[in-house]
Amino acid sequence: MTVKISVLVSGRGTNLQSVIDAIENGEIQNAKIVCVISNKKDALALKRAEKHDIDGVFINPDDFSSREEYDKEMLAVLKEKETDLVLLAGYLKIISDFVIEAYKNRIINIHPSLLPSFKGLDAQKQAVDYGVKFTGCTVHFVEPDLDAGPIIMQKVIPVFEDDTDESLSERLLVEENKAYREVVKLFVDGKLEVNERKVKIKED
Ligand code: GRF
Repeated sequence: MTVKISVLVSGRGTNLQSVIDAIENGEIQNAKIVCVISNKKDALALKRAEKHDIDGVFINPDDFSSREEYDKEMLAVLKEKETDLVLLAGYLKIISDFVIEAYKNRIINIHPSLLPSFKGLDAQKQAVDYGVKFTGCTVHFVEPDLDAGPIIMQKVIPVFEDDTDESLSERLLVEENKAYREVVKLFVDGKLEVNERKVKIKED
């Protein structure tokens, strides 16, 4: 069976690209990206989708009176595409609870810190400003509370004394891109078992 993936984006799309590449090179099998949905018309991620013949859908927030109305339309697109798995890849909008409920344990996000530290925006800057010696990224299932769902995978990197948020973000991105495609592969291969807050990776 092919797992149908929809990816929600707002910007650059390197995590999307990482998953596209892993599907194309056979690292991830039995999966297809059925659409990329953006809330920003000029998102580079939409161009990446186009380049790989993936359906790109721009849903304009200005056309809707509230986040709930916007998300109803988004959910309709996810359903129409028969989506099995939703990936948030640099998607800068909060998702309504009814969407999370409709896709329970089937929406995954990547956050550029070791959660539960440094939730929210500018996590790399928060880490540099706090003076931590290590930081990383977290791939997790999405729950209504922001950046708080069950953790699937974390990757850790050192923070150097002369790091700026830019230099740290650049090194971290390499690990983020790896972590995201590894997690998608685990999901597609049916290896993730969720038990309340704990995610177990099943052995072969
Ligand atoms: C990444 O740092 C991700 O952790 C965060 O937003 C950024 C998206 O980058 N949620 P990209 O659009 O995937 O390149």
